[in-house]
Amino acid sequence: MSLKGNIDLTRLPEHIAIIMDGNGRWASKHGKNRIFGHTNGVSSVRETSEGCAELGVKYLTLYAFSTENWNRPITEVSALMTLLLKTIKAELKTLLKNDIRLKVIGDMAKLPVGVAKELTDAMQRTANNKRMDLILALNYSGKSEIVRAVKEIATKVQKGEVSIDAINEQVVSDNLYTAGIPDPELLIRTSGEKRVSNFMLWQLAYAEYFFTDVFWPDFTREELYKAIIDFQNRERRFGKTSEQLVTK
Ligand code: IPE
Ligand code: IPE
Ligand code: MG
Repeated sequence: MSLKGNIDLTRLPEHIAIIMDGNGRWASKHGKNRIFGHTNGVSSVRETSEGCAELGVKYLTLYAFSTENWNRPITEVSALMTLLLKTIKAELKTLLKNDIRLKVIGDMAKLPVGVAKELTDAMQRTANNKRMDLILALNYSGKSEIVRAVKEIATKVQKGEVSIDAINEQVVSDNLYTAGIPDPELLIRTSGEKRVSNFMLWQLAYAEYFFTDVFWPDFTREELYKAIIDFQNRERRFGKTSEQLVTK
């Protein structure tokens, strides 16, 4: 029986972020090369995106490629870029059909030209979709994102557009890649690793973290439901005491 029925649809996280990890180990477990793992991870992306959209989650961010991932063997990096290109092309129809808007966070300027072009095209064609934002973190680094925001704010100060006194948390948020997107309430990381690996350092300040040993290619809708149910059973205190949260 599906766990879907155990989810309280009135208390869904508005934004879920996922560190999709474990493709390589999944492949070795099956006696195959790492690329095979990445290829099989695509179906989990589809499952999770559709699962989130059906439930009514408004934003789903997937960590697909970090700035550190350029340090992998060139053959793996190229295969990942080719897979990305193929997937965007193949899934565009489904995104349009499902009313999903595609966004990218990260430095797109350093992606292969063909990949950047396909992404830009898909973003433009889905720009008016309303059901859910699917946000891909590509060539993404949380620290670089903050440095970039600091530079943007400093430039505005220099031009006299913003005063130093006016800089607050909102101003910082507004200068991140995620400007206008609410912070994730739930972060999921697959494959048993318990670290954030430079992902959304500012935005995850108060997120609930859910770690599962399941490797990304094995992550299904039911695994997603488990994470959401776990999230709904937590008490989010935001610094207060448990007693203070009891509302009558
Ligand atoms: C996640 O799986 C995919 C990317 C980081 C692109 P990995 O490739 O990191 O798989 P493991 O962690 O080596 O098993
Ligand atoms: C994090 O996974 C990056 C992505 C999921 C894209 P990694 O597998 O690269 O992270 P580390 O190196 O184990 O921290
Ligand atoms: Mg990994």
